[in-house]
Amino acid sequence: MFYFRQTLLCCILLFSFSLTSLAQQFSDTQIEQRVNALLRKMTLEEKAGQITQLAGMNAHTAEMIKQGKVGSILGVLGAENVNEAQRAAVENSRLKIPLIIGYDVIHGYRTVFPVPLASAGSFDPQLIEQSERVAAKEASASGVKWTFAPMVDIARDPRWGRIVEGAGEDPYLGSVVAAARVRGFQGNNIADPESVVACAKHYVAYGAVEGGRDYNTVDISEELLREVYLPPFHAAVDAGVGTLMSAFNDLNGVPATANHHTLTDILRDEWKFDGFVVSDYNSIHELIAHGVAADDSQASLEALSAGVDMDMADDDYERFIPDLVKSGKLPESVVDEAVRRVLRVKFKAGLFEHPYADPAREKTDILTADSLQIERKMAQESMVLLQNNNDLLPLKKAQTVAVIGPLADDKASQLGSWAGNGQAKDAVTPLEGIVTKLGKEHVLYAKGVDIPPFEKGLAAGVAAPAPTSATGAAGVETSNKAATIEDAVSAANKADTVILFVGELAGMTGEASSRASLELPGDQMKLISAVLATKKPVVLVLESGRPLNISWAPGHVQAIMQAWFLGVQAGNAIADVLFGDASPSARLPLSWPRSVGQIPIYYNHKNTGRPSAPDRWHTGYLDLSNEPLYPFGYGLTYTKFKYSNVSVKSGIVRSITFGGKEGVRGVAGSLHVTAEIENTGKREGTEVVQLYVHDRVAPTSRPVRELKGFQRVTLAPGEHKNVEFTVQANDLGSYDPDMHWIVPAGTYDVWVAPDSASGVAGTFEVQ
Ligand code: BGC
Repeated sequence: MFYFRQTLLCCILLFSFSLTSLAQQFSDTQIEQRVNALLRKMTLEEKAGQITQLAGMNAHTAEMIKQGKVGSILGVLGAENVNEAQRAAVENSRLKIPLIIGYDVIHGYRTVFPVPLASAGSFDPQLIEQSERVAAKEASASGVKWTFAPMVDIARDPRWGRIVEGAGEDPYLGSVVAAARVRGFQGNNIADPESVVACAKHYVAYGAVEGGRDYNTVDISEELLREVYLPPFHAAVDAGVGTLMSAFNDLNGVPATANHHTLTDILRDEWKFDGFVVSDYNSIHELIAHGVAADDSQASLEALSAGVDMDMADDDYERFIPDLVKSGKLPESVVDEAVRRVLRVKFKAGLFEHPYADPAREKTDILTADSLQIERKMAQESMVLLQNNNDLLPLKKAQTVAVIGPLADDKASQLGSWAGNGQAKDAVTPLEGIVTKLGKEHVLYAKGVDIPPFEKGLAAGVAAPAPTSATGAAGVETSNKAATIEDAVSAANKADTVILFVGELAGMTGEASSRASLELPGDQMKLISAVLATKKPVVLVLESGRPLNISWAPGHVQAIMQAWFLGVQAGNAIADVLFGDASPSARLPLSWPRSVGQIPIYYNHKNTGRPSAPDRWHTGYLDLSNEPLYPFGYGLTYTKFKYSNVSVKSGIVRSITFGGKEGVRGVAGSLHVTAEIENTGKREGTEVVQLYVHDRVAPTSRPVRELKGFQRVTLAPGEHKNVEFTVQANDLGSYDPDMHWIVPAGTYDVWVAPDSASGVAGTFEVQ
């Protein structure tokens, strides 16, 4: 889990320095004094209330707030509404403790950004941070002071719908992205009215649910937990995240919401986290269904004792904690500690000084031209070019294109799932973006088919015969009769190039949106076959929140672009990239399976005793290769890059010390790797240069490769550059079977690479 901590240490130190010097009006000591002074005045009922979060506002909740029985509200939006709720606390409750107002600002508030899986693929932490700054500014203008983001769950199974909310499969990329998002939300100063408190969720291993089924059981080794699922949370903590959210899942027999090992032993004792942990929605009550609590009183006792400080939505803490203390089952000191953590965050967030939102800002700070510009850039940088035969892309503007497919003009789906306060009417569809780029006389449009929604537990039905809208985007001729494949074929026949927009509806990924199949839903394959039969050049643009089965595509279409769900500027960004006003640079943040049967699939797998080989007695399938269709880190540009001259500087790591679970602090040295990257193509391009290592011999078997660094490098045609990576020795380590962090001696492989399956290789020694 220390992959990343040394490399970031400097920035984190600088960050915390600026936080103390510029931002906080009060020192940490002063804050502790204020917290303790307030705590001493609180009754047991007020303490239980302070660690209670209720969903929504109504007369009953307002009354509870006045009685000091609520510490937080979620899902109340709008400066005036928030201020009204806040007034009940600040003006009408005995101790006048402000509420902290929470909301799911997952990928933007009103300026909806690409879904998190997509923006993670930009490998651009600076731009990600800037995007979250926009989200924080907008959300805070609407009265939100706390976002339930970033979602930092590692996921190796695209059947799991919530893969769309995270940064994909890799703990290093996941850690870099987690820290960037925390910095973006919280800014240099968490008390700044334009900052929001971040919440790293869902702690922990929620992404490992069996079969990819949401809310399902997780049973994984301590090593896997520590090496894969915990690092992004640790990175978020190191970046100063104010809060964490406990997960819904059972983890090795103990639900994450009652898991003392993860919530206290690791989070508090090892990582020294001093913010607070909120449960997920109703997850304390759900301890009963898990079968570890007989009733809500026992559920409250278990969750609070394990380390869940605030109760989201089920009102168990407020109802049961006072009696648990009075009956002697729960020491009051445990309640005090939870209250202390909540108050600490409220003080640090400046809520006592600035409890109210400024309604004027709501009118000026939301959906601004600047925000839309940043979102457009983030969207351009999130599209992954998977194939580009004969440089079909970028397309020439002087031609007629047929824009075909059910997602080409679907506004709601451009936003993706869990789109904050996003509104479909704000979204630019691909059809609109292309019409703006080419002029409507050069664009033909046909929807082709509808995508029928799923009914839970049933396979996708046939396309609903709903009529398509009569008023197409940007004045392009559409009809109000049902979408037909014939119309699509006719449009394709009249065009020079076909751009096909297929995929999933936004609601097909996200919470409670797991799928057993990765096929394109509905009749989309029929549409595709009919369009391919016209023999026109086809650009396949996929919009989805997960990799879908496109194993058929490489031999049949000229170009493939994975567009995910790109947010309000989706259509403009897609048109920019397809027609060469911007260049693709994103990479896959996950391994793209050939078939659902390969899942779980991830690049950093173990070698096995019988590594992959053609003969039968090596690990593999009789009927399919082990390799993904596209590996983690893969993505093309509009130019070509050559990698050469990899060199490893100096003998590096010398002292190998064994440490406790907290990791080794004393390992000296660092690894310096350079390689030459040259743009050998004809256009400027941005390459995501990746550094991977592999420890050949260790006490536990090591992944065949592990990402340890990456850089975005922009080069003009013919230009070359020596790209240098530094990896701290400590970040080369792993856990031994007793869960001690070690840096094993011996030979390591190293690659500087365009993706996880290729690159120029070298070796180095740890002595
Ligand atoms: C989700 C969380 C979310 C919470 C509050 C839950 O259902 O799992 O991710 O933050 O609801 O909306």
